[in-house]
Formats: sequence, C-alpha cells, structure tokens
Amino acid sequence: MEQFKWTTKYSVGIKSIDEQHQHFFKVANLLVETALNDAAAKEEVIALIGSLGDYAFYHLKTEEDYFDKFKYPDAAEHIAEHNKYREQVKSYLDLIRDEKTDIRKIGKEAAIFSGNWLYHHILLVDTKYTKFFIEKGLE
Ligand SMILES: [Fe+2]
Repeated sequence: MEQFKWTTKYSVGIKSIDEQHQHFFKVANLLVETALNDAAAKEEVIALIGSLGDYAFYHLKTEEDYFDKFKYPDAAEHIAEHNKYREQVKSYLDLIRDEKTDIRKIGKEAAIFSGNWLYHHILLVDTKYTKFFIEKGLE
C-alpha cells in the first residue's frame, strides 16, 4: 500500500505548519500499516484512530489560532472546511464504539480518508494563507 508522502509541493511556506502536516501524514501511515497488519491487536488500531483524531484536531486548532491572532480575512470559509473534516472524524470515532464495527476496515478507511483530505486541503485551501501569514512575520 502506498504511503502518504509530504514533498515540497505541499509546503505552505511556514515551517511549524509544514512540520505538523508531515506528522499528520506519519500518523495516517502508521494507522494504515497497523490496520493492515494481522499481528496487530484491535486495541492498537483503536488507539491509533484516537491518536489520528487528536492530532488532526490539534493541528486544525493551531491554524485557527493563527487566524484569530492575525485576523485572517478568509478564516470563516477555511474553518468551514475544517469543520466538515471534524464531522467525518467524529463519525469514525462513533463507529469504533459500536461492537459490530470491523475495526481494521474503519481504521484503514479513516487513515486513507484523512491523508487524502489533507493532500487536497493543503493544495486548495491552506496555500491561500501563505502570503498573508508570511507578511505577518510567521515562519
Ligand atoms: Fe487548514
């Protein structure tokens, strides 16, 4: 299975945010790998779905804190995109509480959905703030 890979094409020009995006992909890759590994315990997959959700939410909040701090004019539409992703993650988290759920399948699905979401979100949405944040002195 192909791994999510951060390359300079995905740079938003701000080091701290690039590093978070790289870490986000790393957690998604680990979750796919673990979900596909028959030797891994189901609990391990559940824990990683939780970790991916936690990290994703932490990351989105980091961006939104910068929007607040610098009064980013396009914050509302950007946050709306984050919220759609948050809703999807919440539905995965609800699913893992259901005994009937195939945890490995959902783990893999959540990771692939998240990695693909981030690929598109960086290129289509995040890169719009690069110029603004750099002008505000963020690096
Ligand atoms: Fe974003």
